[in-house]
Amino acid sequence: MSENQLAEKLLAEARNYREKAYAPYSKYLVGAAVLDDQGRIFGGCNIENCSYGATVCAERVAILTAVAAGAKAIKALAVVVAPGDPAKPCGICRQVIAEFAAEDFKAYLGWTGDEYKEFSFSDLLPDAFRPEDLK
Ligand code: THU
Repeated sequence: MSENQLAEKLLAEARNYREKAYAPYSKYLVGAAVLDDQGRIFGGCNIENCSYGATVCAERVAILTAVAAGAKAIKALAVVVAPGDPAKPCGICRQVIAEFAAEDFKAYLGWTGDEYKEFSFSDLLPDAFRPEDLK
């Protein structure tokens, strides 16, 4: 599969998961999908809470679901928000990506309609604090 095909596949999965978003407070629906180190795809959506701080972003739902299923690393992540809007992972999600991003990690962030922009890990979080910093 070409990189372009992989991006399209992950973005399509993220769009499907966006339909499952539970966002009654913000009404801002987000979908995400990750490719793990075993070639598996996991999706996630944002899940809000009436105690707002308990809300979890779509990216973290997807990444943590993969990890709970045995993933050791995340090779790629796609995120989609409303058509026409750029997806922008929040700071907490960027730090969670820092924990699990594979060497060649790529993020495909939905931009307008079917378009997306590609980002490396260091594009998302330059000079990140990473697991190796604790060694
Ligand atoms: N949100 C995500 O799920 N991912 C992002 O990239 C940005 C923010 C969610 C959290 C909350 O449910 C809503 O969007 C508004 O902040």
